[in-house]
Amino acid sequence: MTKNSKNFALLGSSGYIGRKHVATIKNLKKKLILAHDPYNNSGYLDSFFPECDFAKSEKDFFSLVKKKKITYVVVCTPNYLHFSHIKKSLINGANVICEKPTVMSIRQLKKINKLEKKYKKKCYSIFQLRYNSNIIGLKLNIRKLKKFSNILLNYITYRGKWYEASWKNNLKYSGGLIMNIGVHFVDILTFLFGKINKINLDIANKKTLKGTMHFYNAKIKFLLSIEKKFLKNTNKPIRKIQFNNSNIDLTNKFTDLHAKCYKEILLGRGILTENLILTYENLKLIQNEIKK
Ligand SMILES: NC(=O)c1ccc[n+]([C@@H]2O[C@H](COP(=O)([O-])OP(=O)(O)OC[C@H]3O[C@@H](n4cnc5c(N)ncnc54)[C@H](O)[C@@H]3O)[C@@H](O)[C@H]2O)c1
Repeated sequence: MTKNSKNFALLGSSGYIGRKHVATIKNLKKKLILAHDPYNNSGYLDSFFPECDFAKSEKDFFSLVKKKKITYVVVCTPNYLHFSHIKKSLINGANVICEKPTVMSIRQLKKINKLEKKYKKKCYSIFQLRYNSNIIGLKLNIRKLKKFSNILLNYITYRGKWYEASWKNNLKYSGGLIMNIGVHFVDILTFLFGKINKINLDIANKKTLKGTMHFYNAKIKFLLSIEKKFLKNTNKPIRKIQFNNSNIDLTNKFTDLHAKCYKEILLGRGILTENLILTYENLKLIQNEIKK
């Protein structure tokens, strides 16, 4: 198959991040030939892919995935649907590009890994911060210094009243604050420092998590919150790492990294389920501590 014969289908085209993926596919001069969303708000597709097919149901979507020999199904649906959407995509002969969090548990992640082998297809995940140049620099720095690191991490992204009514605020649908938003920094910390040995939480509620994570070679004091009170007179998100007296801002280079994720995937170098096992083990440890 030549590079340009790769085609895309997308689930969740009416949602916030679905649009970003559609624009990314267009910018990369690839083709979106099929989409589905039960909520009718995908008219913007006409400005990107006027010929794109639109399945009226999920069942139709997956039968077209098979019929049209889709190369990649992009999953931009609410978190609790990812497992079933990835599974159906693999069964119907497509690779998958799935938004974070790939699935809701390590058990599901391992099941997807088995299905990838069974159907000889791949499931790539969007954890764009791994491609942030500051994070890459930090990883090299940590490796070079070979010293114990003390880090402060603030990850504060205010969410307004709409959030309370959204699936994102429902533990069953999103996995809660740590799975839906914290997953970004848990993945990065795992990428930098490996396995969490111990975690202490000072605050653990629906909107804020505050505490300390202990890694073999690092101690991270962190604040994760969606509350406005932690932002100083502004609604601008703070995603900041303080390391050896230097401040690393992750926000500036946060939103433009989807294209980088796609480029890596198209080169066969994306983030695979096996690259996420430790992230999910760490998430489980944090979730267990939250439940205490
Ligand atoms: N990488 C990032 O920085 C980032 C940012 C935001 C969201 N996300 C992730 O992207 C995913 C979507 O989030 P969002 O903010 O776009 O949410 P959203 O609620 O705006 O969009 C989700 C869309 O999925 C649709 N949907 C629901 N059930 C469906 C089904 N069975 N088939 C097809 N479509 C269905 C909904 O109608 C909605 O349009 C989530 O997994 C979220 O965690 C990632």
